[in-house]
Amino acid sequence: MGLKQIDHGSKEYRHMVELRMQILRKPLGLTFTKEELDNERNDILIASFDEDKMLGCCILTKIDINSIRLRQMAVQKNLQGRGIGESIISFAETVARDKGYKILTMHARDTAIGFYEKFGYAIKGGQFEEVKTKHHIMEKKLR
Ligand SMILES: CC(C)(COP(=O)(O)OP(=O)(O)OC[C@H]1O[C@@H](n2cnc3c(N)ncnc32)[C@H](O)[C@@H]1OP(=O)(O)O)[C@@H](O)C(=O)NCCC(=O)NCCS
Repeated sequence: MGLKQIDHGSKEYRHMVELRMQILRKPLGLTFTKEELDNERNDILIASFDEDKMLGCCILTKIDINSIRLRQMAVQKNLQGRGIGESIISFAETVARDKGYKILTMHARDTAIGFYEKFGYAIKGGQFEEVKTKHHIMEKKLR
């Protein structure tokens, strides 16, 4: 298994969008708008591979000089619970730290809060709804 950054608009990026559709959007009856995907041009796009097969992914979006936001964290359904999510979040933290960010923040689905808590993320503020799903802001100081 390997982790790497991928390029916006590449074949790998198209696979990533498909994975995110399957795991994050289709179950909610939602899709991605062209604008949403175009806006990812300047994001850090991360994916985990077993040879050519994409196992999981996430995105990092700059908020300001100190903070970066983790988004679109998804692991193939039949591969969840095998440590792939852990390796993706750990890689994302290393990338963010290396780029000088001090805080990693996210809009965590309530169903994933326990996952993020395992890696030191804490809830900030109250519950809110996004993409028809209950969320909390979670964040962690990167050391
Ligand atoms: C949430 C998700 C990214 C986690 O990835 P994963 O590969 O399944 O997780 P891992 O196998 O690396 O799990 C690491 C640890 O977190 C735990 N964990 C995983 N998902 C969890 C969840 N939803 N709630 C609580 N704990 C969870 C695992 O049991 C494991 O604990 P352990 O180390 O004590 O055994 C993945 O399950 C997924 O894609 N879910 C659907 C989409 C989603 O909800 N994305 C997040 C949106 S904010």
